[in-house]
Amino acid sequence: MKGLILSGGAGTRLRPITHTSAKQLVPIANKPILFYGIEDMVVAGITDIGIVIGETGDEIRAAVGDGSALGASVTYLPQEAPLGLAHCVLIAQEFLGDDAFVMYLGDNMLEQGLTEFVERFDDRTDGAAAQILLAEVDDPRQFGVAELGPDGEVVRLVEKPSVPPSNLALVGVYLFDRHIHDAVRAIEPSPRGELEITDAIQWLIDAGHRVRHEVLAGWWIDTGKKDPLLDCNRLVLETLEPAVHGSVDGESRLDGRVVIEVGASVVRSTVRGPAIIGAGTVVADSYIGPFTSIAAGCEVVEAEIEHSVVLEGSRIAGVERVVDSLIGRDASVERSGVRPKALRLMLGDHSRVEV
Ligand code: G1P
Repeated sequence: MKGLILSGGAGTRLRPITHTSAKQLVPIANKPILFYGIEDMVVAGITDIGIVIGETGDEIRAAVGDGSALGASVTYLPQEAPLGLAHCVLIAQEFLGDDAFVMYLGDNMLEQGLTEFVERFDDRTDGAAAQILLAEVDDPRQFGVAELGPDGEVVRLVEKPSVPPSNLALVGVYLFDRHIHDAVRAIEPSPRGELEITDAIQWLIDAGHRVRHEVLAGWWIDTGKKDPLLDCNRLVLETLEPAVHGSVDGESRLDGRVVIEVGASVVRSTVRGPAIIGAGTVVADSYIGPFTSIAAGCEVVEAEIEHSVVLEGSRIAGVERVVDSLIGRDASVERSGVRPKALRLMLGDHSRVEV
């Protein structure tokens, strides 16, 4: 079986972070979201992986390389414009050949790995052409939604319906056999101008193919917005094994699940886990609260921060207290002694500040 990971898309809901960087590379517990998906595939025995890339392709190539560091062999498949998930299958046809494959949206994160899901499709005896994963959600209007018939079979799938037929959303992990190639060639673009994978699966059903489904047990997060991303960071941090690879002075305290990466130093500070402090980062005279990931090369000085994700090279100094925040690369949040006392901001396009 092959893997197809979709990592195009503009990431508009995570601006301004995604003005300069791919949404799939935003770190969760200091590891890019995309790496979790690749690792899950490798664990499930899928190492031949195609990654569909768009505008941010160079950055994705730089981060993932040939995939060998993650145990995979990666082929890049450039998509000239974000024309939909089914369009990604269309351009991946040569790479996929007649093999069955798992398609994975690069910004989705799942608690459960892919192994059992893949095994059940591999072992199928019912000739199903596809297997989809569903999750119960509060607001199905933002997703593809499945309607089940009286026998519990999927009878209809609709993309972002204004009146959802159920609360079962399509999770961004799909298994297909070669019949999906007929489907993606047959469907027309949706009102948002995209070839929807939801419509392609509906085409399979209409053509008489069996589409199996499973309802997800663990958590699933589409990390494309700030608050779900922070939730996801919290859930992953809760699974980390505590480890100290950097230095912690005698006046500091680490409580609970805390990871201090190589070369990081914690001085006269409290870090209350779950939290991770990235390589080479300095935390001094500060409090790092639960559910916080500070990436590599940051400085946190005389500051308090919790339930937040801070990307590489940023500086937070003299501020209390930063919460529920996503701070981009090389950003600086500092108290200044300059009068008049005021907010002095230099913010990127689409930034959001709550004071
Ligand atoms: C896409 C799919 C949708 C699915 C969702 C899962 O939505 O079109 O059916 O439920 O991913 O994350 P999009 O992220 O394109 O809005």
